[in-house]
Amino acid sequence: MSQTTPAQINFEGKAVDLPVMKGTLGPDVIDIRKLYAETDAFTYDPGFTSTASCESKITFIDGDKGVLLHRGYPIGQLAEKSSFLETCYLLLHGELPTAAEFEPFENSITRHTMLHEQFDKFFSGFRRDAHPMAIMTGAVGALSAFYHDSLDIHDLKQREISAHRLIAKMPTIAARAYKYSVGQPFVHPLNKLSYSENFLRMCFAVPAEEYVPNPILTKAMDRIFILHADHEQNASTSTVRLAGSSGANPFACIAAGIACLWGPSHGGANEEALNMLKEIGTPERIPEFIAGVKARKYKLMGFGHRVYKNYDPRATVMKQSADEVLEAVGDKNDPLFQVAKELEKIALNDEFFIERKLYPNVDFYSGITLSAMGFPTTMFTVLFALARTVGWIAQWKEMIEDPGQKIGRPRQLYTGAGQRDYVSISQRG
Ligand code: CMC
Repeated sequence: MSQTTPAQINFEGKAVDLPVMKGTLGPDVIDIRKLYAETDAFTYDPGFTSTASCESKITFIDGDKGVLLHRGYPIGQLAEKSSFLETCYLLLHGELPTAAEFEPFENSITRHTMLHEQFDKFFSGFRRDAHPMAIMTGAVGALSAFYHDSLDIHDLKQREISAHRLIAKMPTIAARAYKYSVGQPFVHPLNKLSYSENFLRMCFAVPAEEYVPNPILTKAMDRIFILHADHEQNASTSTVRLAGSSGANPFACIAAGIACLWGPSHGGANEEALNMLKEIGTPERIPEFIAGVKARKYKLMGFGHRVYKNYDPRATVMKQSADEVLEAVGDKNDPLFQVAKELEKIALNDEFFIERKLYPNVDFYSGITLSAMGFPTTMFTVLFALARTVGWIAQWKEMIEDPGQKIGRPRQLYTGAGQRDYVSISQRG
């Protein structure tokens, strides 16, 4: 990170030099850390539209060009050539693994997939109709009550074990949340299967029948996991970092990330996007729906992004996956896919969307794909959480391992009442 000529701010007659930091890629960053001490003023940026909250070496996004890189590798190449577990290694360690490095990593993840037997009692405490994200939030937080030997965040080995445990156990917890909601017995992990095969089997196998993994669906699942693995300092990742900055244990921090992801503006959008497509139903109803968006009655879910002002590169891969999965399950002419493609075409040519640089994001086609694979809409955000766990944990680790790390503590512009004296209740009126 090289330095350049400082920026200068003039405030109440005083000029303050602010260092400018340069990253490998992306905009320069004005370092305002000493601004308050020198000017007695804060900066104001709710929603963090102009604020870099940390330094990171993990993921880079150029929203104008539609570029997403993990440790320098373009997402399209990873989705096509890598596997989810290899991408996990890359995110955690900074480099693609050699065969000798990958084997023990895969082995460790595979051997941490089981849950403590007593953990299963948590699931039966929930109502059968509980949203699986509610179950995930509770269950993942509860991991800290079971794995006391990996809670010391200052111990490198314990950090590694908790990272492996989280990546390994998320599919088991997610599959149990699903099985519980449909009243089917839990399926235990099977070590001879790959990460994605194992997850699909834990979701869809039943004791009465032999489960045969479908290679096209397995590949699609793995690719969906890669596409969701990390995304820089988004809301849930920032939540994980903020929770972790106080020294909270990793299981608690990831539970906080899951809670944040659940919102419809973030990970919850995939569920909302499919519900929207179902509501539109047929291509003929698209103009009426678009009119409602323009009248600001609702948003076009799966469109728009805080950072991408171009096509989300993940959406390109996701659209292709939707095509392959629909073909594999014999649903090539799925009416919702037709509605989605037509909706995309119309929106991309409409002035309202062009002006605001609104393009499809990863969630636009993921719902159709997951639905064709057999997942109910309520599971969509769960799958996002499962995949994003590695990103959260890589970002959490990076923060903990940064010697300059401080507790996150934003300030505010206070607009409430000035100081006043307490009045007893009998004298108020
Ligand atoms: N449909 C209609 N109008 C929209 C949409 C949309 N999906 N997204 C933004 N706009 C409009 C917004 O109303 C505003 O218009 P105006 O300037 O006239 O007031 C303008 O575009 C700028 O929007 P913004 O709200 O300032 O943008 P933002 O960066 O704060 O919001 C967003 C980003 C993702 C929250 C928003 O685009 C959105 O709500 N999209 C739908 C939900 C969605 O698909 N979320 C998934 C994001 S990708 C997965 C993930 O990372 O979680």
